[in-house]
Amino acid sequence: MHNFEWNLPTKIVYGKGELSRLGELCNEYGRKAFLATYRRSEKRAWILDTALSSLKAAGIEVTIFDCIEPNPRAETVDQGVQLFLESGCEFVVALGGGSVIDAAKYISATAFSGGSAWDYVILAERAAKEYTGAYPIVAVPTVSAAGSEANAGGVITNWKTKEKSFSRSPYRIPKVAIVDPEVFVTVPRDITADGSVDIFCHLIEHYLTSPDASEIADRITEGLILTTMEYLDRALKDGSDLEARGQLALCALLGWSGIQALGRMGTIPIHFIEHQISGHYDISHGRGMVIILPAYLNHFADARPERWAKLARRIFNVKEDDDLQAARALGGAVVKWLESIDMHVTFSDHKIDSSKFDQMTDDIIRMYGTLDGNKVPGPRPMGRDDIMAILNASL
Ligand SMILES: [Fe+2]
Repeated sequence: MHNFEWNLPTKIVYGKGELSRLGELCNEYGRKAFLATYRRSEKRAWILDTALSSLKAAGIEVTIFDCIEPNPRAETVDQGVQLFLESGCEFVVALGGGSVIDAAKYISATAFSGGSAWDYVILAERAAKEYTGAYPIVAVPTVSAAGSEANAGGVITNWKTKEKSFSRSPYRIPKVAIVDPEVFVTVPRDITADGSVDIFCHLIEHYLTSPDASEIADRITEGLILTTMEYLDRALKDGSDLEARGQLALCALLGWSGIQALGRMGTIPIHFIEHQISGHYDISHGRGMVIILPAYLNHFADARPERWAKLARRIFNVKEDDDLQAARALGGAVVKWLESIDMHVTFSDHKIDSSKFDQMTDDIIRMYGTLDGNKVPGPRPMGRDDIMAILNASL
């Protein structure tokens, strides 16, 4: 286990009906809120209306910015920054899925620190600009997936260059996360499942790649994976199962909060690959993960067989005694799980062919290649051939 510091400063407010406390929970951050959210839809209008009436009841003036798209674009974030500054807002309320919360984070910190949102994104070939601070953020997740409501990360896309990348800043960790299970009841089946595969991927990234060992992190991860799988089944059977919705929401939040990697932080190769897929094709991040996950697991099974085998045995009940055999069984076990939730899909199912694979691979190496310039961190350093093999096997 390596040394670590872990701090989760986000106040987590959990429970049915807690959304109506939004105004009260924002009181200490100012009188002028910038509400970053998705486009209004009739089905989910009550969520926005509940948030607005709660803020109004607390005497908080609201500027609404409701044009954040999935895979939020740097240009959209910059428009948000401009509106935030023009309207003299004092804090940000992020009401939406990971895309909305990530965009809200960039709006808050870029408005505080100056410049353009993309200046702060990590790209291997340049030094990212450093924030000097951020306005407070209160997050209300409406999809269980990214866990952005209680961490420092954030991903945005530069639509001009088709680059999708991330940054982390402690300034942007939300002050409060309101997790209200009722909010998730209307999340459609496919988005619920995509989101849960994203949670699963967050949980396995460090588990599989860290060179260090930490049993507490492994056990926390395994508990969160088992909870995600069990309660996803329940949520897919009955979307209005509040207990299932709540458990999934907490798995999402904790699964990317750092608690799942205490003492054995690794790297995030599945995300490195996926970002360029949703960056080029504008499919959801979770769906991109679904597409490449089996091929990733099969391709690297022999890179760290002891880690693959541990996951295969503890989560999927694989009985092989030999580590390499157990490791090689993991991809198949995950495919069975994906099939059981109707989520075993490929690039072809999304009418995506291999025509952009070369460019995507070049971008992945260029953007995340930190080891001698042509390899990306992974279970073993990932080269061009590895990435191409995973993409091709996902067709
Ligand atoms: Fe993710």
